[in-house]
Amino acid sequence: MSRFQDQVVIVTGASRGIGRAIAEAFGREGARVACIATRRENALATAERIAGAIAYGCDVSNESSVQETFAQIESDLGVPQVLVNNAGITRDTLLMRMSLEDWDQVQAVNLRGAFLCSRAVTKSMMKARYGRMVNISSIVGQSGAAGQANYAASKAGVIGLTMALAKELGSRNITVNAVAPGFIETDMTSELSEEMRASVIAKAPIGRLGSGEDIAHGVTFLASREAGYITGQTLTIDGGLIL
Ligand code: NAI
Repeated sequence: MSRFQDQVVIVTGASRGIGRAIAEAFGREGARVACIATRRENALATAERIAGAIAYGCDVSNESSVQETFAQIESDLGVPQVLVNNAGITRDTLLMRMSLEDWDQVQAVNLRGAFLCSRAVTKSMMKARYGRMVNISSIVGQSGAAGQANYAASKAGVIGLTMALAKELGSRNITVNAVAPGFIETDMTSELSEEMRASVIAKAPIGRLGSGEDIAHGVTFLASREAGYITGQTLTIDGGLIL
């Protein structure tokens, strides 16, 4: 029996990269996956690869867009058992050059988005007395990075949100955990220099960059019934990079 047979799983930022790998991993285990991306046609590219998946266009930083989309998901697929807050952006630059817009946009998608999507599933999960939320943070939220003040703050914020919601929702059998990826090969990291890649490979004990699948394995574990006594935790998946 697949771990997520007939469960409704919502994955934000599912059009590519880590989100696509996560959506596909749930799909392989029998879930009915709601794939969210900013533009529906991009989410469709993932949904078409997963039996029974549905694509939705939604800006996770926009309150009404989240409310409408999540209501539609419930009416199409039913009450969600799992939410994965994966959508995220970077606007990297040194603090001296960082505009207010660079700061606000990153908080809006990475942190406000996780808040809005979590809030949108909470009532139904509380009523069902079951839920699993997994928030994608970053090792940058645990250790910081020059040129990423906005991103590091948003990802540290995601860890705080995770712990607060774990305390708030635990009595209803809803667990809330985070995953902190290291350096994963996706479009987000494709622009980094060869030098940077080589230094990551040299530093990480596992000796390679991570893949979306490496992250998906951790996410599906935390979202499984078996992980029911784990909450408020951050699982670092980085090949040992921050050791
Ligand atoms: P990506 O850039 O390849 O994909 C990001 C996804 O988020 C896309 O599907 C995009 O459509 C979606 N998205 C962006 N803004 C959105 C919005 N306003 N509303 C809805 N969807 C939106 O990124 P990647 O690398 O797959 O990263 C996924 C998550 O993992 C992000 O939260 C990122 O911060 C995090 N992460 C990535 C690492 C890496 O090395 N690639 C390392 C640590 C964390």
